Amino acid sequence: MYSESPGRDAVRFAKAVLTNQMARFTPGLYFGLTRQTGRGKGSEEPAEIAAYFIRCFNEYMERLADGRPADEYLAGKSVLEYGPGDVLAVALLMYAHGAASVHCVDRFPIQRISDTNIRTYLAIIDSLDPPQRDRARRAFKEFGDPASGLDPEAVRYVVTPDGLIDRPDSYDLIVSRAVLEHVDQLDMTIADMAAALRADGVAIHKVDLKSHGMDRYLPFDFLTWPEPAYRLMNSHKGNPNRWRVDKYRELVHRHGLRFRALADTGQLAPEDIDRIRAGLAAGFRDIPTADLTWLGFWMVVDRTPGLHS
Ligand SMILES: C[S@@+](CC[C@H](N)C(=O)[O-])C[C@H]1O[C@@H](n2cnc3c(N)ncnc32)[C@H](O)[C@@H]1O
Repeated sequence: MYSESPGRDAVRFAKAVLTNQMARFTPGLYFGLTRQTGRGKGSEEPAEIAAYFIRCFNEYMERLADGRPADEYLAGKSVLEYGPGDVLAVALLMYAHGAASVHCVDRFPIQRISDTNIRTYLAIIDSLDPPQRDRARRAFKEFGDPASGLDPEAVRYVVTPDGLIDRPDSYDLIVSRAVLEHVDQLDMTIADMAAALRADGVAIHKVDLKSHGMDRYLPFDFLTWPEPAYRLMNSHKGNPNRWRVDKYRELVHRHGLRFRALADTGQLAPEDIDRIRAGLAAGFRDIPTADLTWLGFWMVVDRTPGLHS
């Protein structure tokens, strides 16, 4: 393991093990104290949160719609989003632009109708042109009133123990952003996603491979904690699972999917990996430097023809 101060790291380890047990037995308290359960809890203004989700939606469409208008691409589609966070804003935008219905699944029950989230929904509605605005207003139980909650016929939110949807052959489009790096059982989530896709469906995921604030001295030195120690510190906190892009390639193929696109969102310099290589945890030692440098990626996948019964 890479360390410049073993004493400091021992204290860090002990504290993290304790807070991991807190997250395990009193998740409400832990997530409340760490304020890490979604965008609507920080200091961001509703307009900024709305702008973030509009950007997320546009980035999906840029990669999926082949230059067609979003409404044409989404018309009549059944959509699933993994890990929406506390505001179902991407789902609202998908519905506003013509999706037949949107399901959201999460492992943690963090969706909330707070004042900030209501104002975020209203900012999104205001940003739309009249036809989409009208459809967005119809997504709520009371027309145009986010305080009444989303109508499950339009946008349905479910929480399941592992964040799995377990609905084979049900979705034309599956999306997630900043989620797969947090899931506790990546293999199960990819299997769930592969099964949930319809034969001509497509899935798009944005994955952030950075340390989420857990590097101590050097970039990516969070990859040097031995796996058992890392799990003792983090297994109940929703912190990164540390899987690298090689694992995603393997799981995509194992579950009968194929890449339409796989593109990094940035890379460290190879020398950054050289600095930590001697201390890497066992599971990372055989991964080529060219894969370890990835800071994140977009992946677009569909089902490999002939592999599903
Ligand atoms: C960093 S937040 C991202 C939220 C939102 N997608 C965004 O871009 O702001 C991660 C989300 O993934 C959810 N999550 C964590 N583990 C999950 C799992 N196994 N299955 C589904 N969602 C999960 C979290 O509860 C949270 O909603």
